[in-house]
Amino acid sequence: MSTFWSLWIIGLTLTNLVLVLWVLLANRKVAVRDDETPENRTTGHVYDGIEEYDNPLPRWWFKMFIATFIFAGVYLMIYPGLGSFKGFYPGGWTQELELKRHQQKADARYAEQFGKYNAMPIETLAQDQDAMKMGLRLFANNCAVCHGADGGGNHGFPNLTDNDWIWGGSPEKIKETIVQGRKAAMPPWAAILGDEGIAQTTEYVLSLSGREHDEQMALVGAEHFKRNCVACHGADATGNPMLGAPNLTDDIWLYSGEPSGIRQTLREGRNGVMPAQQELLKESRIHLLAAYVYSLSLPYEDQD
Ligand code: HEC
Ligand code: HEC
Repeated sequence: MSTFWSLWIIGLTLTNLVLVLWVLLANRKVAVRDDETPENRTTGHVYDGIEEYDNPLPRWWFKMFIATFIFAGVYLMIYPGLGSFKGFYPGGWTQELELKRHQQKADARYAEQFGKYNAMPIETLAQDQDAMKMGLRLFANNCAVCHGADGGGNHGFPNLTDNDWIWGGSPEKIKETIVQGRKAAMPPWAAILGDEGIAQTTEYVLSLSGREHDEQMALVGAEHFKRNCVACHGADATGNPMLGAPNLTDDIWLYSGEPSGIRQTLREGRNGVMPAQQELLKESRIHLLAAYVYSLSLPYEDQD
């Protein structure tokens, strides 16, 4: 801001304050006169037969006006408000500085709270009641939109409570999932298998988890599977946590175990994305969240 405009604003602000103060004091009536009668007590203004009393401003009201002037004066000395004058706030005051101060205060408080948890291994932390209460809150704020308030999952969003892991359920793997995120790539097969091939492979996939299926079609489907699917889902179809290819034999479905849903998966492919939290959450929070997710399906069963 140039000096001229700064002075201009300072001038306007102060002139306004003085003027308003002058109006207040100049029109001040201190007391009701002794010789007043109902007639001479009015201001003489008449609106539609309604007359206006000429009473003094109540004392408390007047004092409140004065208090606001004092407040304005003090405020304008401390905070920036008069042109480019920055105010005498210790260390200076801007919205950014104020936000930074709040963040520093919060960080210091959390560091104390989280510091203790940070040093604990995830397995131990998952048994700590207080820590898990904080984990629940962090989960509600950052993860529940996708995974559900209870971590129970949804269509396309895995259930985190069932000990069935796509990317691995050890403390290290869970943490890795949260920190780095995960991108799953199941290619579309419509062009390669055609409608009939999709239908046959679907019957085979249904058979893998003991679902109702057509034997004849499943036999042909098994051939398609060998040719196209084992690279990711494995020869025994139990999946591959390195690729995020789910186990197809356990009747737990990320998308759908219904024939129509499986056909859609095969035709169009699927590309589930778990967003990386590294940039969004601090290490200490991720550590706590990893322990919370780990705790949801205790006791952990090593699937390998
Ligand atoms: C390049 C690796 C790859 C190949 C090849 C592949 N898949 Fe997948 N498949 C995946 C991945 C990764 C997912 C998980 C997708 C996601 O999470 O969005 C998946 C998901 C699925 C699902 C969904 C499971 C569920 O729980 O809802 C089915 C069914 C499936 N694949 C069947 C097949 C079949 C049948 C073939 C062969 C025709 C095949 N896949 C080939 C990687 C592969
Ligand atoms: C925008 C939606 C979204 C949010 C928010 C989200 N996730 Fe996920 N998450 C997913 C999806 C989708 C997958 C599955 C990716 C795939 O297809 O394999 C996933 C997978 C996971 C997995 C792997 C599960 C397994 O079986 O291996 C874990 C663990 C997980 N998320 C934890 C979290 C935590 C903790 C948070 C909160 C910090 C979170 N997620 C926030 C969408 C989300």
